Amino acid sequence: MKSIKGIILAGGTGSRLYPLTLGTSKQLLPVYDKPMIYYPLSVLMQAEIKDVLIISSEHDLPKFKKLLGDGSKLGIKISYKVQFEPNGIAESFIIGQDFICDDNVCLILGDNIFHGDEFISNINTAKIDLSNGYSSIFGVSVPNPESYGVIEFDDKNNIIDIAEKPDFAKSNIIVSGLYFYTNDVVKFAKKLKPSERGEKEITDINNLYLSSKKLKLIRLKSSISWFDTGTYSSLIQASKYFENYEKKSGQKAACIEEIAYNMGFIDNSQLNKIANSMHNSEYGNYLLKLTLK
Ligand code: G1P
Repeated sequence: MKSIKGIILAGGTGSRLYPLTLGTSKQLLPVYDKPMIYYPLSVLMQAEIKDVLIISSEHDLPKFKKLLGDGSKLGIKISYKVQFEPNGIAESFIIGQDFICDDNVCLILGDNIFHGDEFISNINTAKIDLSNGYSSIFGVSVPNPESYGVIEFDDKNNIIDIAEKPDFAKSNIIVSGLYFYTNDVVKFAKKLKPSERGEKEITDINNLYLSSKKLKLIRLKSSISWFDTGTYSSLIQASKYFENYEKKSGQKAACIEEIAYNMGFIDNSQLNKIANSMHNSEYGNYLLKLTLK
């Protein structure tokens, strides 16, 4: 069986968040107590994807390397590639083609945050679909669909089309930034023409799978929270949500070191080493407590 490679796209200029992102990458901004990229990385890790490529700009890539290294501390493998120009999400598969090789691939956008107990069952559905040759997208209902890839349905609820940031949305269901694709995605990405805004659009990839009848839509369960972190308000809302969740439950969300430990990627002594390196912070102390359980 083909394995699934993971790609996190942490590109873009983050211009909607200027001046917050003038000096750093959006995906390194804090969401409560951890850098934003921890959240999408935690999704890949929970999906048991242990070979991950991070794509970012030439300027920001060294900062991601400093943060996450080669992944060995987490018992995974992380490699890095530059996207020299913001040429669109679908360019990831061309930049990452040697990395993907003959495997299937899961792409997650570095600014997409998913949270909820039932999320893992959605991911498992996508993995099963992939092993049967179907690619999956994850649909969420939002009040402002025009800002996203919008799904159009027929009266039997079949997808007819996906439109990227249309003037008039045909539904409230949008495509979130998590995609499970068969290896065909590399071929599809190569044949895409840039859109009017000069980007290779992920929506065009989805429409290619749709027209070959190989696309499944997984609707996120209502218990799952999805955050777009594109505005000052949505960024702070996400932080407040996780502060509240962590205080109430006593648990951390998207704690990549804890996930690595629970998934058996690292052992107690490896976790202990990481915890000690952060022992001055509340985060480090949380990890330390885990090693004592
Ligand atoms: C991108 C995609 C869009 C998708 C969204 C999810 O938009 O182009 O189809 O709905 O991510 O976050 P962006 O917000 O990066 O322009």
